[in-house]
Amino acid sequence: MTLLHEPDYGTPAVEGEATVDLEIDGHAIAVPPGTSVMRAAAEAGLAVPKLCATDSLDAFGSCRLCLVEIEGRRGTPASCTTPCEPGMRVNTQTPRLEKLRRGVMELYISDHPLDCLTCPANGDCELQDMAGVVGLRDVRYGYAGENHLDAPTDSSNPYFSFDESKCIACSRCVRACDEVQGTLALTIQGRGFASKVAASAGESFMASECVSCGACVQECPTSTLQEKSVIELGMPTRTVLTTCAYCGVGCTFKAELRGDELVRMVPYKDGGANEGHSCVKGRFAFGYASHPDRVLSPMVRESIDDPWREVSWDEAIDYTASRFKEIQAKYGPQSIGGITSSRCTNEEVYVVQKAVRAAFGNNNVDTCARVCHSPTGYGLKQTFGTSAGTQDFRSVAKADVIVVIGANPTEGHPVFGSRMKRRLREGAQLIVIDPRRIDLVRTPHVEAKYHLQLQPGTNVAVVNALAHVIVTEGLVDRTYVEQRCETEAFDGWAEFIALPENSPEAVEVVSGVPAQVLREAARLYASAPNAAIYYGLGVTEHSQGSTMVMGMANLAMATGNVGREGVGVNPLRGQNNVQGSCDMGSFPHELPGYRHVSDDVVRAQFESMWGATLQSEPGLRIPNMFDEAVSGSFKGLYIQGEDLAQSDPNTKHVKAALAAMELVVVQDLFLNETAAFAHVFLPGTSFLEKDGTFTNAERRINRVRPVMPSRTGMQEWEVTCALAAAMGYPMHYDSSAQIMDEIAAMTPTFSGVSFARLDELGSIQWPCNDANPTGTPIMHVDHFVRGLGHFVETPYVPTDERTNRRFPLILTTGRILSQYNVGAQTRRTANVAWHPEDVLDIHSYDAEERGIADGSWVSIASRVGETTLRARISDRVPHGVVYTTFHHPVSGANVVTTEYSDWATNCPEYKVTAVQVRPVTPVPDTAETLTHSQGRV
Ligand code: SF4
Ligand code: SF4
Ligand code: SF4
Ligand code: FES
Repeated sequence: MTLLHEPDYGTPAVEGEATVDLEIDGHAIAVPPGTSVMRAAAEAGLAVPKLCATDSLDAFGSCRLCLVEIEGRRGTPASCTTPCEPGMRVNTQTPRLEKLRRGVMELYISDHPLDCLTCPANGDCELQDMAGVVGLRDVRYGYAGENHLDAPTDSSNPYFSFDESKCIACSRCVRACDEVQGTLALTIQGRGFASKVAASAGESFMASECVSCGACVQECPTSTLQEKSVIELGMPTRTVLTTCAYCGVGCTFKAELRGDELVRMVPYKDGGANEGHSCVKGRFAFGYASHPDRVLSPMVRESIDDPWREVSWDEAIDYTASRFKEIQAKYGPQSIGGITSSRCTNEEVYVVQKAVRAAFGNNNVDTCARVCHSPTGYGLKQTFGTSAGTQDFRSVAKADVIVVIGANPTEGHPVFGSRMKRRLREGAQLIVIDPRRIDLVRTPHVEAKYHLQLQPGTNVAVVNALAHVIVTEGLVDRTYVEQRCETEAFDGWAEFIALPENSPEAVEVVSGVPAQVLREAARLYASAPNAAIYYGLGVTEHSQGSTMVMGMANLAMATGNVGREGVGVNPLRGQNNVQGSCDMGSFPHELPGYRHVSDDVVRAQFESMWGATLQSEPGLRIPNMFDEAVSGSFKGLYIQGEDLAQSDPNTKHVKAALAAMELVVVQDLFLNETAAFAHVFLPGTSFLEKDGTFTNAERRINRVRPVMPSRTGMQEWEVTCALAAAMGYPMHYDSSAQIMDEIAAMTPTFSGVSFARLDELGSIQWPCNDANPTGTPIMHVDHFVRGLGHFVETPYVPTDERTNRRFPLILTTGRILSQYNVGAQTRRTANVAWHPEDVLDIHSYDAEERGIADGSWVSIASRVGETTLRARISDRVPHGVVYTTFHHPVSGANVVTTEYSDWATNCPEYKVTAVQVRPVTPVPDTAETLTHSQGRV
């Protein structure tokens, strides 16, 4: 499509019935109470000139361009700040108004560089547009007076510049940073003529608190804040709507191109998940798609000691198929398997699991969700009946109490984090349960009421203590429980939870959280009209991950906090398509739609559709594949978009397993760490080349549209189909739309989904079927998917990973905003400016005890491995706990993580590793280690 300009109604929409009748320029108009005159006019197609107003920000009323006349009122009020009233008669176009507006514009233009023709914003500048709209022809004051034309440009940010000479001090950037992003990094300094935009205390953007979300750039009506890519490449000319491929928020973007070149990504106002906002990754960090490290041709080698040999697609596929067949002939049908990726589209994932089941003839398929949110699937299915979050993101605007457990939304899910912060600034109360003092605990205009700074590994004890207070203090919502839940299971659970071992006083001893804080937090949660739980990998990546998910579900059911807006139990999914990859049947025990492989009726449906015999026994999970590879019975693996050697725990064991296999096939963008063990490398496609769908954390299915043709000449699903066909199972689709049609035909929750329907509705939250033809934003409204909610007893069992004198500290891991997972993409962008290396956060007490200085190198050793990082002394971690990220392969954080895992799903216990930290001398050779970082996960 040509460049898509979204309408701007000047001020935000107001919800409610259109009960206010008025007349604007002779047109009868009805709007909800509170609507501005500007918005009412714009909705009726009567545009009032404006500069400081935009519909994503509250009205400010500073530019005086939007003046109108209202019959019976004196003066010329600003239409953006004037609410509509019944019977109002408004004139927006009169000779008097035109003269006033021209006068305003004259003043702006007299202090603005006259370089429109060479300005990067030429053609996309509201100042230029408004000068035309008001009919400005000349500037009577001339340009010689005092002005800002020599003001400096701040180019410190890698992605955008700030050319102060073009600033009209409209304050849209400041308000965007406050209202949309919630970082409050900008201010207007000075008064009157001297007023100017300043980042933090007059620092450069890069040195300020700015998190580079780009909201200010988007709102700037001039070229003052401008993407550097626009300055370099020119104004884009066409738009493709697509979805971010980083985190589980699933932001919709306008990819804006000039010819075939991607110039910028602009968040789409109609994007269901992001509503026009973005973070630094989605908006700016797309350059990895054209990074020279991309491998674009298939490669094979007989042995991992041989050099790679570039081959044609046909040769790569024939070689792979014949090697897999040889292995199966020699070692049996169960000796090979496949791994799907949560980075890939639903369609790509669906064909991989189908190829494994139908062409490999086994159920040895698993997904990287195994190592992140598999306990979510298990726990929510047991209690509510479906393996997904209960709410849409918008719902947080109705929450009165928000509980964040083991998640760091401002870093890990930034656009949702901004949404949450807005609700907190409006007055919602916050409870944070996390060993670390994450940003949300105290950030501008947001302060958690309670921070439960528990010992890593004691989540279940803490959730049980909260439930204990609710049960023993009579805070249970009896009506809800009786009407919506299995009362017998509730009674058993209530009896269990009331045991003294679950009391706050007992839990204080193990968790370190004071009993009084546990009691007060429980009362706050239980007494809120609407209380919502949001959680992340700090819940799931534990030996009791599934137990904790069920513990939170119990808490929500007991207090009646499931089934309407503002409540619920919500996983903040890590990767862009974790939800989708699970939905698509990537688990060894489940077919698409979470139906067990042992279900004869379901299996028969798939056998009939696929024309293949399917196995009724579950296949191998990822850790079982590794174990069997080491023991010699598992010999071949097809890995799509997943760097097991970096992202899975106990790297030593993973590498031993990969080295023991006879055929490892890696399908990816870059030669990653796992590719060091591969015999075949099949180049993958970036999200800019993909055609399909991603499903985000709120079950929202978003279209991913190709912004450019596949740089490898093949779509990934075409490669998988060709491999299946070469193995003797013909698998063909004309398009990814056809794959979605098959998914819809085979998966009841997707039955109403098609590409045509997605184009029509923008996005769809599953279930989408005859009962819910436009999707389901909130689940479990009248009844739980399983019928009655099911309480599960959740005894706390301490992890086997214990500290002792040799390993006295607990290591826990997480993410930061600018990098993503193992960093394969973000490390190949200018985002490295913010996070060039992983560091180890250590409390000053622990550092001092060991003689560790801030910035010095330390070794970190666990029972399974040892690595080296730079230390940062930080009071965000408590005494006894150290923390690091895992974005750089060189830091090898997973070298030290153990093989302990969730009892139900085998999700690794990344969040608890007993370690010792010591200073190291001499300092490691960074040049050497950084060479190693060219690999990826
Ligand atoms: S980029 Fe985002 S965080 Fe930085 S100043 Fe602009 S709005 Fe604020
Ligand atoms: S930088 Fe742009 S948005 Fe900010 S005050 Fe100046 S002109 Fe307005
Ligand atoms: S919040 Fe997540 S989905 Fe949205 S732009 Fe950032 S990384 Fe992409
Ligand atoms: S747009 Fe109304 S005062 Fe600026």
